Amino acid sequence: MEKILDLRSDTVTRPTAEMREAMKNAIVGDDILRDDPTVIRLEELAAEIFGKEAALLTISGTMSNEIAVMIYTKPGDEIVVFSDSHLYNLETGGISALSGAQPRPLKSDSGTYEPGELSEAIMPPGVQRARTQLICLENTFHLNRGLAVAKNRYAETIAIAQKHDLPIFMDGARIFNAALATNTTVADLVSFCDSVDVCLCKGLAAPLGSMLVGSKDFIDEARRMRQRIGGGMRQAGVIAAPGILALTKMVERLPEDHENAEKMRLGLEALGIRVDRGGVLTNIVNLDVSPAGWKAAPFADRLNGYGIKVKVCSEHTLRMVTHNDIPSRDISFILDTIGNVLREQR
Ligand SMILES: Cc1ncc(COP(=O)(O)O)c(C=O)c1O
Repeated sequence: MEKILDLRSDTVTRPTAEMREAMKNAIVGDDILRDDPTVIRLEELAAEIFGKEAALLTISGTMSNEIAVMIYTKPGDEIVVFSDSHLYNLETGGISALSGAQPRPLKSDSGTYEPGELSEAIMPPGVQRARTQLICLENTFHLNRGLAVAKNRYAETIAIAQKHDLPIFMDGARIFNAALATNTTVADLVSFCDSVDVCLCKGLAAPLGSMLVGSKDFIDEARRMRQRIGGGMRQAGVIAAPGILALTKMVERLPEDHENAEKMRLGLEALGIRVDRGGVLTNIVNLDVSPAGWKAAPFADRLNGYGIKVKVCSEHTLRMVTHNDIPSRDISFILDTIGNVLREQR
């Protein structure tokens, strides 16, 4: 087999040659002592791009998300999350384990809260009640669908948050994809959020890292909480250097991923496969192979045999994610291979 085309996630992207060079040449220092100029440059850049006062480099999106919850809550408090969110499903129970808070998960198909349900989910005061302290959002939503949510769709959530004086945290692991797909800037898209997490190592192709952005006070506290959970770093400039390229150069090439994903959707539909069209779409293609008479696992196995890796999401659905290591020229090969698999015996 000549090469592997890994479409399971955009987390599989390898750092570009330019990133590796930047890592090699990075000027570094002890970042816990605030002596790493490359980290400081990355944090200032992130704050500026997001229109917030300050930013903090963390190891991962999970670490950023959990630090945010730690800051807004005390043990016994409650936060509102989407039942399909990363925070609720894929962080090993960190909300309760690290913060001692409990999540109140609400179902959503669109990436926004239904206003009546959100209002009802916010605990009224009372001696027996947990205190609701935070409303969490995720954009793009959710990791198997990549739906971009336009800012105006949050109007009711914002009004409810204001009425109850609750902060809003955005898990914006793929917020640049969301901004691109809704024709705006990330600063505009998160202008109503108190704090935001954005990942450098998904579609932006850095080897690791995530930025937490918010007010100066919030980031000062986040720096302390990062230290508490062992996330303080020393010569982290080697991570920050590719992060700077992620936030600048790599953002500019995201349209290619969205175009490739749409090419893939159209090609799959032409082959009789159902694709998720339930909103504004980005670099994640969610497909249902049951109309073609297949189940997801054997279909994925067969593609794997041709060097194409995809993620099985449920009995009939799979996910294929476009990214920097899947150039446009490979899309027709992928579609041709899928066509061949569909013609093979199940
Ligand atoms: C929406 C979302 N939030 C947070 C994360 C966590 O990022 P990390 O894997 O860097 O911890 C992910 C990871 O895929 C994600 O998809």
